[in-house]
Amino acid sequence: MFQPFKRPKLTVVGSGATGAATAHIAALKGLGDIVLLDVAEGIPQGKALDIWESGPIEGFDSRVVGTNDYADTAGSDIVVITAGMPRKPGMSRDDLLKVNAGIVHDVAAAAAQQSPDAIIVVLTNPADVMTFVAQRASGFPHHRVLGQAGVLDSARFRTFLADALGVSPKDVSAFVMGNHGDAMVPLVRYSFAGGIPVEKLLPKAQIDEIVQRTRVGGGEIVNLMKMSAYYAPGSSLVAMLASILHDEHRLLPTIAYLNGEYGERDIYLGVPAILGGRGVERVLEVDFTDEERAMFQKSVDSVRGPLALVK
Ligand code: LAC
Repeated sequence: MFQPFKRPKLTVVGSGATGAATAHIAALKGLGDIVLLDVAEGIPQGKALDIWESGPIEGFDSRVVGTNDYADTAGSDIVVITAGMPRKPGMSRDDLLKVNAGIVHDVAAAAAQQSPDAIIVVLTNPADVMTFVAQRASGFPHHRVLGQAGVLDSARFRTFLADALGVSPKDVSAFVMGNHGDAMVPLVRYSFAGGIPVEKLLPKAQIDEIVQRTRVGGGEIVNLMKMSAYYAPGSSLVAMLASILHDEHRLLPTIAYLNGEYGERDIYLGVPAILGGRGVERVLEVDFTDEERAMFQKSVDSVRGPLALVK
């Protein structure tokens, strides 16, 4: 007998600007039915209704509902965690550590109880540490808990490189590893435009400026609009969700658990990873020059400190 396919169910926790943007973009791409959850009463319900009502115009048929009750998230295939305090001007992502660790812990535990087979994707900052917190609170295997940062950081890097080169960003590939913070590791040597190394196309001084702008890319937006970015973060999350839900096996910079890769253990950090139906299918290792290795080490150290505080 034909077994009807079940439409994927996504839960987005946090109905602030980022959670709502993520739900909106996911609905536009028809990823599945979406539950938007928040403790704030009325906000997730209102934003979900608003998104759902754009369906007839945009041509998507996802059901989008808002709720304050975890029972409505039961049986989700993916749970995205955006809940927590966002950055204000003058704050680093680590300034959010204590308050967000408590929130992410409670969210992950409650969501895991309702959706024991889900894959959890974390965006809440500081994202590398919060992904660790979510894994521990959920009790899920490491490959089913991952975080977003590198897709966004790489997108910023690609945008600035494409602009400097005067080429379409579609033809620029680049990747940023390491933590989501000023010690991130933009890998110039592994960045290309139309297959040509960007080092051959732009002077070093200009690349250095672009690398620096990428490192503080989130802060640039916080300083401009006095709140954290949400369009590109939402798009970044949705790219990862699509790769998981469609088992695309995209190779994306992902906050993944390291168990010996890059010589590190018991830490979540941004590394190139294959994302598919099981979550993190595999972490890939790239070789480093001495300079890159030193940057990566600095990035590891910048996560180990705050990680020790939540462990
Ligand atoms: C940023 C936030 C999401 O980088 O950390 O914009």
